[in-house]
Amino acid sequence: MCGITGYAGYKEAAPVLLDALKKLEYRGYDSAGIAVLAAQPLENSPSGNRLFVRKAKGPLSVLSERLSHETVAGTLGIGHTRWATHGEPSDVNSHPHTDVSGRIAVVHNGIIENYARLKEWLQARDVVFLSDTDTEVIAHLINYYYKPESGGGLLGAVLETLKRLEGSYALAVVSSDFPDRLIAARKDSPLIVGLGQGENLIASDVTALLAHTREVCFLEDREVAVLYRDHVDLFTGQGEKIIRAPTHVDWDVEAAEKGGYAHFMLKEIHEQAKALADTLRPRLKETTTGRDISLDEIKLGDNWAAAPRVVITACGTAWHAAMVGKYAFEHFARLPVEVDIASEYRYRNPVTNPDDLFIVISQSGETADTLAAMRLAKKSGARILAVTNVVGSTLAREADLSLYTWAGPEIAVASTKAFTTQLMCIYLLALKLGKLRSRITDADYARYLKALAKIPEQAAAVLAKQELIQKFAARHFNKGKVFFMGRQFDYAVSLESALKLKEISYTHSEAFAAGELKHGPIALVDTNTLVVAIATQTALFDKIASNIREVTSRGAASLVITWEGESAFAAIADEVFTIPKTEDCLSPLLSIIPAQLFAYYCAVQRGNDPDKPRNLAKSVTVE
Ligand code: G6P
Repeated sequence: MCGITGYAGYKEAAPVLLDALKKLEYRGYDSAGIAVLAAQPLENSPSGNRLFVRKAKGPLSVLSERLSHETVAGTLGIGHTRWATHGEPSDVNSHPHTDVSGRIAVVHNGIIENYARLKEWLQARDVVFLSDTDTEVIAHLINYYYKPESGGGLLGAVLETLKRLEGSYALAVVSSDFPDRLIAARKDSPLIVGLGQGENLIASDVTALLAHTREVCFLEDREVAVLYRDHVDLFTGQGEKIIRAPTHVDWDVEAAEKGGYAHFMLKEIHEQAKALADTLRPRLKETTTGRDISLDEIKLGDNWAAAPRVVITACGTAWHAAMVGKYAFEHFARLPVEVDIASEYRYRNPVTNPDDLFIVISQSGETADTLAAMRLAKKSGARILAVTNVVGSTLAREADLSLYTWAGPEIAVASTKAFTTQLMCIYLLALKLGKLRSRITDADYARYLKALAKIPEQAAAVLAKQELIQKFAARHFNKGKVFFMGRQFDYAVSLESALKLKEISYTHSEAFAAGELKHGPIALVDTNTLVVAIATQTALFDKIASNIREVTSRGAASLVITWEGESAFAAIADEVFTIPKTEDCLSPLLSIIPAQLFAYYCAVQRGNDPDKPRNLAKSVTVE
């Protein structure tokens, strides 16, 4: 989830761009860069080139420091702050990326899913690539289609290029041949045009525009904007002109940073539909024989698929993703799975074998216990596969292979979109291993992939019903105890649900495997208890229904999270929240969302700041 910006006006562009990037830094902070059209040809430029590009690995402050030693006069430019997806954080992988002629510079937020094919195509035409990014293909393609000698302009080249891109993008392009304009375009990544007085801007979110203007145009998918200092032209992807009245925004800066949401946590809960799509879609391929999962980035060779056992370790929320993983690997790949909390694994005397597939899950890739567990497993010779959200993190660097969640930066301490995207990666792995190990029939594989493809839109449908959960939370936020229970996949989701609630609402909450209720927890149930039953495992509905009766007959209030159209719980629970039907074994991708919302609204009702819960840290890098 990078941040992009651009400026065409009368002020010096470099400080304006740096200022905007500061506002966008929450979207990514592993490197930053700008390109400015200098007023004069650059020193040492035999071709008279005026494109000044500076970029640096590290937070924006590194770039700012570097720029403080040089000056560039120029009133048009683009900027980028990066959250790496393709290619580790480094100077060369930072944006802007330029074409071979050095005339064209591009910044990009999103993922170009077909970049590998485009790269090969360009390489076959002698284009030399400098970086490992997907973005660089855009600069080279624009150059390929850009034919000034035959009268073909920059806009035409950009439009031709966009036709070849699959995936998501918000991008901005400048060329030293056109020092009066910048071109911006979007598909599935946000981009807003700010309309000022004698200056026009673009940015990934409104925050970066507010210092200049409150009149904005939200670009729609596949639209293109050409910004000059005194006006902006909007086009469809086919190059037809569009006329649109600007929107006036009166958000304050703080609200704008959160995309209009009250807290980062709520924003990140709502980002899940997109984060799930970003993590899934580039890896789901249509082939001549049907859909398939392509995990090219980890080159899951035969020896990995032949591993006799999977071991998964992690901490906190990531450990709950591992718990879902246990059920998923057993179910799809028929592999024995051991799941361990990293701080337990590192201090026991574990039996880990060189042929084990050892999976480590961590949003940050920096959790001290998780890293220690990985290093211990490495010593046993196990092959390490990291599932992480941070390209270039310690975990990613030290693991043999990394499968990235493409959730973008997560700011709220309580993890939400990182969790669901971790689940998505785990499902992709488990399904792929099941297929490679011939433990899953072609028909079942096709059915599961079809269901997986629908998950992002189903997640959006769950989020659209958030008001029901908000109202429920308003009635129950003051309960003394909240217990979550479920069986199998639902048990794993119960663990994560209870963690969310205790982390931010400070309510005493626990999760139980529903069958364990009678072995102790039921002694705690009284009229000050809320029990949330997660009930998506259809074969076990009778069992969980009995458990619900057991707690409600002892005075507990109850909520059931189950499938749409399911009537089994209507008469026995106080409230039923339904989620769209998918395969029972994929339910965690959806059933956790109402629980996240419940935790969020309970925290708000109790007057807590859900983004900064007491005593907790986002990344625990010490023991
Ligand atoms: C902290 C965070 C949790 C997170 C856990 C593991 O406790 O507050 O939200 O799940 O660390 O973090 P990781 O970055 O390894 O996923």
